[in-house]
Amino acid sequence: MSRPLGITVSRHIMDNQRLHPEATGDLSGLLNELIVAAKTISAEVNMAGLADILGMSGKTNIQGEHVQKLDEFANNTIKRRMARSGYLCAMTSEEEADIIPVAEGYEGKYTLAFDPLDGSSNIDVNVSIGTIFSIHHRLSPDGGPGEEADLLQPGASQVAAGYIIYGSSTMLVFTTGDGVHGFTLDPSVGEFYLSHPDIRIPAKSKYYSVNEGNTNYWQEPVRRYLDYLKEEDKATGRPYSARYIGSMVADFHRNLIAGGIFLYPRDSKDSTKPYGKLRLLYEAAPLAFVAEQAGGRAVTDDGRSILAIKPDDLHQRVPVVIGGSGDVENFLNFINGDN
Ligand code: AHG
Ligand code: MN
Ligand code: MN
Repeated sequence: MSRPLGITVSRHIMDNQRLHPEATGDLSGLLNELIVAAKTISAEVNMAGLADILGMSGKTNIQGEHVQKLDEFANNTIKRRMARSGYLCAMTSEEEADIIPVAEGYEGKYTLAFDPLDGSSNIDVNVSIGTIFSIHHRLSPDGGPGEEADLLQPGASQVAAGYIIYGSSTMLVFTTGDGVHGFTLDPSVGEFYLSHPDIRIPAKSKYYSVNEGNTNYWQEPVRRYLDYLKEEDKATGRPYSARYIGSMVADFHRNLIAGGIFLYPRDSKDSTKPYGKLRLLYEAAPLAFVAEQAGGRAVTDDGRSILAIKPDDLHQRVPVVIGGSGDVENFLNFINGDN
């Protein structure tokens, strides 16, 4: 069987670079390195179910190496590869409390924030998980290590952002500010091929994604909005259907393709998390950039633009409402008291 001649992600990145004569090729190089890390993680994720059978989830594997939990593996894979890429000056990861330095002599002009494995509690039940990334220009002068301030930038200044979803197939979805493009991994070749050019999120949908078990801990306008979605009104296409996977990447991806609104509002369940659960730098901001580049919107549960928030902390949490523009506008009517 002959294979179709698809556009690989590296070809797509190079074609894009040609449209920007001022580009040095550093962003292209950075993305390509990140994609190698993603393919490594994808291969490991696919082995997850076999790990026990092959006896590889104990302390050592056949080579005598220490076998790590998958999110630790994903974190180390990205960290080690990117530390010597030559394109970054600093990183931050969900798995590390402090800023992650790059190797001495390899300092570059970008920063990387990442969630190595999002939805990792779903690994053991064979449900889709993902990796989320966000790239900014450094603010400090080129040369030498980056600083925390280089990472604490609002999402609006992201240079690139996206995710890899390890689902029934592995997909890479990202934006560099010229729309959102999706690539599917052909594992037999080890290449991502352009499968979803110029993705647009449907403005209005019939799906919502939220952990409804938290209803009693939500603020009043959020509760009223959810009640509204469940009311019958054939003219406006209600009731909506619920779809909640519990991996933000998977919930977001479903909504991006099929339409929908995802919410993780603040709740009063845990006083240590007064702004909800999701983190701004490596969960909310990158997916907000993707959503807005696909024609959607991303706001907080009190109606502020996620991309406009200037972070104070690497692991800052933020309440998230993200989806099609019409769906999010409808939500805002409840917050603004118009409904
Ligand atoms: P992570 O696995 O990176 O810690 O993130 C899990 C997050 C996110 O993926 C998901 O949307 C959310 O947790 C689900 O939380 P609930 O179980 O509270 O619904
Ligand atoms: Mn996460
Ligand atoms: Mn994670």
